[in-house]
Amino acid sequence: MRRLTRVAEVRDLVAAERAAGKRVGFVPTMGFLHEGHLRLVDEARRRADVVVMSIFVNPLQFGPTEDLSRYPRDLEGDAGKAEARGVDALFVPEAHAIYPEPPRVVVSPRALAGRWEGAARPGHFEGVLTVVAKLFNIVQPHVAVFGQKDIQQATLVRAMVRDLDMPVEIVVSPTVREADGLAMSSRNSYLDPHERERALALSGALRAAETAHRSGVRSATQLEEIARGHLASAGIEDVDYVAIADPNTLEPLVHAEAGAIVALAARIGRTRLIDNVILGSP
Ligand code: PAF
Repeated sequence: MRRLTRVAEVRDLVAAERAAGKRVGFVPTMGFLHEGHLRLVDEARRRADVVVMSIFVNPLQFGPTEDLSRYPRDLEGDAGKAEARGVDALFVPEAHAIYPEPPRVVVSPRALAGRWEGAARPGHFEGVLTVVAKLFNIVQPHVAVFGQKDIQQATLVRAMVRDLDMPVEIVVSPTVREADGLAMSSRNSYLDPHERERALALSGALRAAETAHRSGVRSATQLEEIARGHLASAGIEDVDYVAIADPNTLEPLVHAEAGAIVALAARIGRTRLIDNVILGSP
């Protein structure tokens, strides 16, 4: 595996691979890799000849009171995991390689970013889309893989690629869970054992909504109440949202047919976690 820090090195590598007729797959990450990230690598590997992963904790997508400075980092551990999983090139730029100066032009999402995560984290998706657009321009992948756990991010990246005519195929890969159901996340490392136990209520709330949907409940209000009730009974009161939404527009739904998403965000202690499911999926 090659480890690259400069934009020009990535461009040269990808240009050579493309010239040799190779398909380039890309997995953008912020590091502190877990099995969820590594499954994205597997997915990219299935769809491309060469897999590039980036690790960059993007300051632009963190709000002033968020966890940028304490975001977990383990570059050497990550490099070992990426190499063992078959990543061909690991791009680990310093902040000044990506933002030599504060950007004067950014990618600004519209209404799609105003709800749910976007409402709870103003400016977050502008930061995400700006860095993803930059990384796409640097890596020039044929295909890029994102995780379903960040479903609004994946939806917005798809919208950006379509609206700005970016020649990248976007693949969304299912959320990977711990054996007890907790969605894998780098932020799980913040949880103490007691919080880790309480955090199970997030996937539990989603499962409760799924079970109700399977037994015929279609009312979004009812499904939301069921999920919120589950969180409340686990003592989780700091809930940013429970969304029953259209998977493409993320607009709230009145009736949730198969394919609708249930997404939620809640704080356990100081740690904010998100999770979602697609109703009616196996
Ligand atoms: O999902 C993430 O880890 C980040 O939002 C991404 C896509 C790497 C952009 O910084």
